Amino acid sequence: MAKVKIIETALRDAHQSLIATRMRTEDMLPIIEEMDKVGYFSLEAWGGATFDSCIRFLNEDPWERLRLFKENVKKTPLQMLLRGQNLVGYKHYADDVVKEFVEKSYENGIDVFRIFDALNDSRNMEMSIKTAKAQGAYVQGTISYTISPVHTIESYVDFAKKLEAMDCDAITIKDMAGLITPMMAKDLVIALKEQTSLDVNLHSHCTSGLTLMSYQAAIEAGVDLLDTAISPFSGGTAQPPTESVVAALQSTQYDTGIDLAQLNIVKNYFAELAEKYQGLFDPLSSKVDTDVLRYQVPGGMLSNLVSQLKQQDAIDKYEEVLNEIPHVRKDLGYPPLVTPTSQIVGVQSVMNVLMGKRYENITKEVKEYLKGAYGKAPAEINMDLYKKALGDEEPITCRPADLLEPELESARKEVKEKDLYTKEEDVLTYALYPTVAEKFLKGEAVAEEIPEPKTNYTSSNIPNAYDVEIDGEVFNVKVLPTGYMEMEPDSGKVKSSVENGLHSTMQGMIVKLKVKVGDTVEEGDAVAVLEAMKMENDVKTDRAGKVTEILISEGDTVEKGSVLMVIE
Ligand code: CO
Repeated sequence: MAKVKIIETALRDAHQSLIATRMRTEDMLPIIEEMDKVGYFSLEAWGGATFDSCIRFLNEDPWERLRLFKENVKKTPLQMLLRGQNLVGYKHYADDVVKEFVEKSYENGIDVFRIFDALNDSRNMEMSIKTAKAQGAYVQGTISYTISPVHTIESYVDFAKKLEAMDCDAITIKDMAGLITPMMAKDLVIALKEQTSLDVNLHSHCTSGLTLMSYQAAIEAGVDLLDTAISPFSGGTAQPPTESVVAALQSTQYDTGIDLAQLNIVKNYFAELAEKYQGLFDPLSSKVDTDVLRYQVPGGMLSNLVSQLKQQDAIDKYEEVLNEIPHVRKDLGYPPLVTPTSQIVGVQSVMNVLMGKRYENITKEVKEYLKGAYGKAPAEINMDLYKKALGDEEPITCRPADLLEPELESARKEVKEKDLYTKEEDVLTYALYPTVAEKFLKGEAVAEEIPEPKTNYTSSNIPNAYDVEIDGEVFNVKVLPTGYMEMEPDSGKVKSSVENGLHSTMQGMIVKLKVKVGDTVEEGDAVAVLEAMKMENDVKTDRAGKVTEILISEGDTVEKGSVLMVIE
């Protein structure tokens, strides 16, 4: 009888943390039968960001992925990460969508639900826990672990007792940033074991370098379940290596019961796969970064931040953004940084830095957060910021989802009207991500290519000639020693910008146009809504005038600097 049981994260959290959730189903299928033989407690294989990534980046149906897993994994329970009322999205969905989503997840193969709320507000977990339990699933109620003046062992135990009263089977300490220290892990596990009758699970990330020590402390304190990742996808912003933990506990009272030889088959496969995805491993997310102890930025958020800043052509602002995050977090009453609060805090911090002024542009999500639409903040929020964002609007004090009208029927109607319906699950995909799902269900999504591995350039091997693509035309550009550029052929001039054009200040997708040709606008009016970094932002006009031409439509992806419309 295994004393410490292992949850393998290679198929979900590990690649979400290390390669921005880009692992393809076709790369998972060849190994899952071998993984099934290992003797894991469960395979974490679905949920979290994988759903979004499938339809947004990989042109894959996440439901199909789940069904294929279930067909091939006969013994080992399949586990998913569920963001409470946010499901696998970034906002609260109505109860009817939550119920249907959990039921369909169970029906398609999920046995273990790990359910959390970013604010540890149990009201946001009620519906999904109740539904999962009604299906007969094993439910891990989850503590989103963070450090702040209000997050104490006592507060975590109180929260765990609530989850126990909601009929959860286990409690997971979800340490998404790898912040938990060995002593804290020990004290928290002991407190949870003493004061609840639940199995206790520790989930952490290696980012800060503390994790293996903390796992050992948790083991000695009596932890029941640990999350690990097969070694080629372990470490850095992912979990500690499975083989190492298994080997460390072999022939002790904590023996995991896992055979290292079988694990080696799995390891060899993933080692090869890591080669294939080499171009996606960011050096920043593969190494130990003690800064997380200061900034408290979780692994997934760190690698997302890097890619978002690169997209916005602002990677030089990385340090500045990391410094801004604790300020924003304090203003918002110390939310743990996990989806969606990590994005809400992260994007607002990016905006504050890019705009050069704090809260010059407040995202829609921050406004909603301040209002209480995501639940109760752990500590007092900054009331000056509240007033700036919401004026005299009254805050929400009830369970946020009580304010939402049912959404499922209207989604079903739209899916059918738009001729996108092939199965019931499509309605859920659409209800969760209307814009992205429509593109995907129409068959217009394109799978991203896996980028070539990066070369480490030194001063002696920096190339001095580049092929540069501008509006679909390729120009050969040479960098001359004096630093100016020469373009070939002669005709290669960058298209001059449209006169009176309103430019996009960010890369992203237009989700809504708020004006039409002929409208008159005032300076500062919102003319469109741009989804950048998974957050919706108002695009404001920098001048008054009349809209004479609109060059974009809803659903278009625009670059930083793209002309959106002409305002004269
Ligand atoms: Co995690």
